[in-house]
Amino acid sequence: MKTKIAIAGDGNVGSALQKGLSRAGYEVTAVGRQPGKLKEAASTATIVILAVPYGAVDATLAELGDTIDGKPLVDCTNPLTKEMKLAATGTSAAEELQKKAPRAKVVKAFNTTFAGTMSTGKAKGETLSIYAASDDAAAKKDVLQLARDIGFDAVDAGPLQNARYLEPLAVLNIQLAYSVGLGPDSGFRHVH
Ligand SMILES: NC(=O)c1ccc[n+]([C@@H]2O[C@H](COP(=O)([O-])OP(=O)(O)OC[C@H]3O[C@@H](n4cnc5c(N)ncnc54)[C@H](OP(=O)(O)O)[C@@H]3O)[C@@H](O)[C@H]2O)c1
Repeated sequence: MKTKIAIAGDGNVGSALQKGLSRAGYEVTAVGRQPGKLKEAASTATIVILAVPYGAVDATLAELGDTIDGKPLVDCTNPLTKEMKLAATGTSAAEELQKKAPRAKVVKAFNTTFAGTMSTGKAKGETLSIYAASDDAAAKKDVLQLARDIGFDAVDAGPLQNARYLEPLAVLNIQLAYSVGLGPDSGFRHVH
């Protein structure tokens, strides 16, 4: 039986992950703003991925309800201001998410790479790294495997608290691409 994955959001990130994970053999449903559809997909999924704007997280959690209880909840979001700077969260978006969804197993991942790389794990044909941080070892292992199955190199980035460093790393990625001029077909590769 294929592992079922529900993705909240079918924009740049949601559709790229859907493509990469479907190719890797997972049964994936990515849902945009269609009332009832997300809850339906998440209720039968083993893993749920949040690929909505940071400002839409609370509404998405309300829609997901208890369908995420006991499951890995992958947080791809970046808490960004309109100026594409890091928004103040107090801790990190991922830790705040874990407080709001205490029965889900939050894993911060896929936030430090561009959507354009997310269906293959590659930029300019080179393998990129994905960092996954979580306080739940089994959930993190599952998400590291998803990343590998897409084609990424996968790096265990320690406890969820390390999302405090992964979220600013995403801002650096954006700066390098759009201010420095490397463009979005670029990204981080970790030697380990
Ligand atoms: N783009 C990247 O390269 C990248 C990389 C890493 C992380 N991220 C993060 O990943 C998340 C998704 O980014 P994205 O580029 O995929 O965004 P996007 O293309 O704008 O897609 C957002 C998705 O969320 C849905 N959504 C659900 N509720 C929403 C609401 N209340 N307001 C707005 N949208 C809502 C949208 O539905 P509709 O289609 O109906 O609007 C759409 O399917 C963001 O948190 C972003 O910071 C993005």
